[in-house]
Amino acid sequence: MSANGWQLRNDERSHMPQMKSVLVTGANAGLGKESARQLALLESTERVYLGCRNIEKAEAAKAELEELTGRSVFEILQIDVMDMDSVRAAVRALPSPIDGLVMNAGGMGGPTPRTRTREGSTQLFAANVLGHALLVDELIAAGKLEKVAVYSGSEAMRGVRQVRIKRLTFETSSSDEFASIIDGSWLGGAYTAMAAYAASKYVAALWIASMARRHPSIRFVTMSPGGTSGTAAADGMQGFQRILVKYIGKPLMVALRMMHNVETGAARYVNALTDERYESGVFYGNAADAMIGDVVDQATIYADLANEDFQDNAYEAIHRFLPSR
Ligand SMILES: NC(=O)c1ccc[n+]([C@@H]2O[C@H](COP(=O)([O-])OP(=O)(O)OC[C@H]3O[C@@H](n4cnc5c(N)ncnc54)[C@H](OP(=O)(O)O)[C@@H]3O)[C@@H](O)[C@H]2O)c1
Repeated sequence: MSANGWQLRNDERSHMPQMKSVLVTGANAGLGKESARQLALLESTERVYLGCRNIEKAEAAKAELEELTGRSVFEILQIDVMDMDSVRAAVRALPSPIDGLVMNAGGMGGPTPRTRTREGSTQLFAANVLGHALLVDELIAAGKLEKVAVYSGSEAMRGVRQVRIKRLTFETSSSDEFASIIDGSWLGGAYTAMAAYAASKYVAALWIASMARRHPSIRFVTMSPGGTSGTAAADGMQGFQRILVKYIGKPLMVALRMMHNVETGAARYVNALTDERYESGVFYGNAADAMIGDVVDQATIYADLANEDFQDNAYEAIHRFLPSR
């Protein structure tokens, strides 16, 4: 696979499933906005829903995207993935089924990542995972998700040497242990937003794999955008990592080709959406010890990702925190 995934010839692309309508969460900035732009440029695309929590930012992004693409396919869908009522309202407001979903909203959880939501999840987990889990469940229940769901993954849990992120280990990988990641008690006094972020994205990748087995008619893929410069992601980091990634390391890492631009990062989402060779249930991301480049199945680097019991434990833990239907 190349840096952007597989290179498709035009005649091959014509055999790929057509994405007429896609919802992208966190579409007003960074990777979400860029993937919305790229999707609008695909011939088959008729509608791109910009899933955003802030209407003013959404309006500005919509105007910019229309200008950049010359297409008026964008529609705003207000959604705050940290707020379960907002997620439900968004699904109700969606006028018709979508072919594809990009679960991109997220990051380091804002100024109070460990604060708990009404459901008892940390804000960080809610923004990255819980809201998306409810969104998918509600879309499926309403018959509004037809073909593919792509989740924005991160390799952080297996460690990223270049930015001094340590590999995570788990004692039991039970649903209780995963629930402690969700409610923020897992790290005890050693809590850092970066470790909590890494663990949250890990639980999410396991949950996606579990969903793939539960819903064989929908392709569920976790795709890391790779180390991507030019987004606001580093703003939410703390201490050493923030200084390294935002101020010192990022320009250097770009120069050394250790990070790629937002176009390349977002293209990974688009490829995962439109190319069926990305298999359901797999987490694709950088090769071991790389921050960009070819994508590989992350279970070849972090074997626990392929453990079906762990996947189902993640599913079960997440659903403890979701309001029952
Ligand atoms: N950049 C990287 O190197 C990298 C690497 C691996 C994974 N990722 C993942 O890629 C995704 C996008 O990151 P990015 O780098 O593009 O960051 P970004 O520039 O900070 O964009 C994040 C987007 O998510 C939205 N968002 C955050 N919380 C939300 C909520 N509760 N409800 C709705 N929207 C919300 C933000 O909206 P507001 O403007 O309203 O805050 C913004 O549109 C994240 O999930 C991140 O973890 C990024």
